[in-house]
Amino acid sequence: MSKNFDIKILDELKEKDNVKKHFYIETWGCQMNEEDSEKLSGMLKRVGYTKTENKEDAGIILFNTCCVRENAENKVFGNLGSLKHLKKENPDLIIGICGCMMQQEGMADKILKKFPYVNIVFGTHNAYKFPEYLNRVKTEGVQIKEIFNKETDIVEGLPIDRESNVKAFVTIMYGCNNFCTYCIVPYVRGRERSRKPEDILNEVRELVAQGYKEITLLGQNVNSYGKGLEEEVDFAKLLRMINEIEGLERVRFMTSHPKDLTHDVIMAIKECDKLCEQIHLPVQSGSNSILKKMNRHYTKEYYLDLIKKIKEEIPGVTLTTDIIVGFPGETEEDFQETLELVKEVGYSSAFTFIYSRRNNTPADMMLNQVSEEDKHHRFNRLIAAVNERVIAQNKAEEGNILEVLVEGNSKNDAEKLTGRTRTGRLVNFTGENVNVGELVNVKITRAQNFSLIGEVIK
Ligand code: SAH
Ligand code: SF4
Ligand code: F3S
Repeated sequence: MSKNFDIKILDELKEKDNVKKHFYIETWGCQMNEEDSEKLSGMLKRVGYTKTENKEDAGIILFNTCCVRENAENKVFGNLGSLKHLKKENPDLIIGICGCMMQQEGMADKILKKFPYVNIVFGTHNAYKFPEYLNRVKTEGVQIKEIFNKETDIVEGLPIDRESNVKAFVTIMYGCNNFCTYCIVPYVRGRERSRKPEDILNEVRELVAQGYKEITLLGQNVNSYGKGLEEEVDFAKLLRMINEIEGLERVRFMTSHPKDLTHDVIMAIKECDKLCEQIHLPVQSGSNSILKKMNRHYTKEYYLDLIKKIKEEIPGVTLTTDIIVGFPGETEEDFQETLELVKEVGYSSAFTFIYSRRNNTPADMMLNQVSEEDKHHRFNRLIAAVNERVIAQNKAEEGNILEVLVEGNSKNDAEKLTGRTRTGRLVNFTGENVNVGELVNVKITRAQNFSLIGEVIK
C-alpha cells in the first residue's frame, strides 16, 4: 500500500516561519540513505531553508546515520560530540538524528543520554514526518524521539533535492527479506515493499523532463521487485517499461542478489538499449561453507555459472561486487577460495569489507570469530587481488573509443571534464564545446590505475 505526502504542510510551515536559514546535512551509508537525505533536503528547501556545507552557518544540523558496520556508527558518535560547542554558541541550533542507526533497539535512548542537546530523533520509517517534528520543536520547544518499529505504507510525492542534475537515484523497493546472517539491514529497514510501477514510471518521466539522462534504480534486492503488488509485474518487466521512456539515455540498478537474478533480467539488459552493460552482483565470499553460514542461498559454482551466462549474453559487460573477509569460522582455505573467485571473475571494482559484529544478528552469536590480525591480513591481500584485475582492465581500454555521459568538471584537474562509460568506468577528459549532460565519444589516451584519461572526438 502507498499514500501521498501532504505537501500543504510544507507551505504552511513556510508561511509561519518565513526565515531564510541554512541547514547542514551529513549522510553515512548506502544510496538508500543518500536518497532519504535528498528527500529531507527537498522538504527543508520547500520550507525556505538553503543548504550549507558549513556546520557553523547552520540553523539545523541533520545526521542521517548508518549502522551496517561498527566504524559507520563510531563516526556518528564522534561527530555528535563535536556539535556540543556549536550548540553552546547558538542555543537555537536544532540538531536532528535519523537513519538506520536509530532503528536499533535502545540506540535512540543511548544517544539522547550521551548527547542531551539533540532535539529530534527519528527512524527510517517516519522520515517523511520530519517537518512535523521540526514544527513542534520550534513552537513547543520539546525534545522529540519518535521511531516506528514497523514499516508503514510507502509515502509518495515527497519533494526531492537531488545532488546531481544529470543522474538520479530512484528507489523501486524498500526493505529486505533475506536475513543474511551478518547483516543488520533487514532489522533497520523492515520487510520488502515495492513501489507501484506507475509511481516509478511517473518519477522517471518527470526526471527526464527536467533534463536527467541517467537513472539508477535502487533496492536492497531489486530482483525481487513486484512481490505483493496487485499488478502482475517483476523486475525484468519494469526494466522493459522504463526502457521505453523517450529521452532517457541510461539505466543502472543496484543491488542484485545473485540467487534472484533471472534469465529474464539478463535478457532485458541484453535487449534494451538504455540498460547499461554493468551489473553489481555481491558475492560476499568464494567459499561454499561460508556462503552457507551467511545464509546466501547460492554456491560458488552457481555464482560462477551465472557470471559465465552474463558474460556470454552481454558482451563487454563489467561486474562489480561486495566481499566480506573474516566472517566467523572463515579459514585461510576459505579465504583462498575468495581470492581465486576474484581472480576468475575479474571485477571492474569491488567494495571490500572487514566483517563487523552486529548486535543480535546470527553471525554475532557464532563462536569462532576471526582475529583482528587475520582479518586485516586477508583484507589487504583481497584488495591487491581485486586491484590487479581492475588495473589490467583499465589498461586494456587504452586506444578505445567509449561513450561517456558528461557529469561536470573533474575533481582533481580543473582543466578536465569527468564522466562515466556505460560500463561504469570513470573517465577524465578534455574536449571543446561540451556540455554537462551530453553523451560524447571519448578516445582513451591513457589508463591510470582506477580511472581513464581521454579526449573527445566529434
Ligand atoms: N542489499 C545489498 C547490500 C547491503 S549492505 C546486498 O545484499 O548486496 C552493503 C554491503 O555491506 C553488503 O553487501 C556486505 O558486503 C556489507 N556488509 C553488510 N553487513 C556487514 C557486516 N556486518 N560486516 C561487514 N560488512 C557487511
Ligand atoms: Fe543485508 Fe543480505 Fe539483505 Fe543485502 S540481501 S541487505 S546483505 S540481508
Ligand atoms: Fe547503512 Fe542503512 Fe544502507 S544500515 S548500508 S544506510 S540501509
